[in-house]
Amino acid sequence: MKLDFSKPLYALAPLAGFTDLPFRSVVKKFGVDLTVSEMISSNALVHNSKKTRRMLEKAPTEDPYSIQIAGSDLDVIRRAVEIINEEEGVNAIDLNCGCPAPKVVNNLQGSSLLTDLPQMAKVIETIKKYSNKPYTSMKMRLGFNEKNHVEIARIAEASGADYIAVHGRTRAGRYKAAVDYDAIREIKEAISIPVIANGDIDSPQKAAEVLSYTGADGIMIGRAAVKEPWIFAQIKEGMSKPSSALIKEVVLEHFDQMISYYDRYGAIIFRKNLHSYSKAGYEGASAFRDTINRIEDPKEMREVIEAFFSQKFYYED
Ligand SMILES: Cc1cc2nc3c(=O)[nH]c(=O)nc-3n(C[C@H](O)[C@H](O)[C@H](O)COP(=O)(O)O)c2cc1C
Repeated sequence: MKLDFSKPLYALAPLAGFTDLPFRSVVKKFGVDLTVSEMISSNALVHNSKKTRRMLEKAPTEDPYSIQIAGSDLDVIRRAVEIINEEEGVNAIDLNCGCPAPKVVNNLQGSSLLTDLPQMAKVIETIKKYSNKPYTSMKMRLGFNEKNHVEIARIAEASGADYIAVHGRTRAGRYKAAVDYDAIREIKEAISIPVIANGDIDSPQKAAEVLSYTGADGIMIGRAAVKEPWIFAQIKEGMSKPSSALIKEVVLEHFDQMISYYDRYGAIIFRKNLHSYSKAGYEGASAFRDTINRIEDPKEMREVIEAFFSQKFYYED
């Protein structure tokens, strides 16, 4: 499916460790327009890591779907793109130019590509040249230590990016500095390809404000969607606050998908999601988190989840 930028596009941000296939398919039910894989190391992909190959998989409902890669070695990038070319139903290959983690940055990957813009340009050109997918994109921060966002965005456009997503912080700002929506607006004014705004969008009001303030063509939501995957239905369809019954349904469905995708191990990696979901205003949330941290058996875990999320909120009958 083509990306429709004739109206605001709502995307789920890539979050390593969170936006796997089970989670993305849960979010998809709430109407998100675009889903993106977790960051996939181009190196791991070409070295045939089975686990990494599996990260390319998508749910049938994910259309359009984008795969995000990290890397800077042109030969490795080309081979990674050729592997992705074999995958059907992938609409975009996205280059990560934002990850701040030292392990990634020390290998001239993620946000450190912003310190070598000629190389960043070559990586985007390489993806564009070898990809058989309709779109090439990149996700950037505003700079590494200092902001040079307009220069970065112009180079991305000139190198063949079809759209970009902008997290409105520098690498130095990690995940805490105030998001600079003025900078996103400056980028939007400076280039002609679509710009997707990202950073600290956590409500329908904020989504509307960021869209109108920046003039962006879409927004991308990460952390808020982990807590509230229904946020996209609230933004797009005006859905009201979810009932406790709906949350229970979502949590159990997410859990079941984790078990079918990861088998027993899915119960353990679902703990972090339960930590987020349990913060929606339930009594006994901290005791619940202690309990599930000790459970490994999926059947036992499901029973404990079902009991906890059967609570009604105080304002419900
Ligand atoms: C746990 C975590 C993992 C992330 N993984 C990725 C990633 O794999 N690729 C990427 O481009 N950004 C990644 N990010 C950044 C997010 O995509 C997003 O830019 C950032 O969280 C700001 O948006 P938000 O405030 O809506 O979460 C990650 C962020 C977090 C918190």
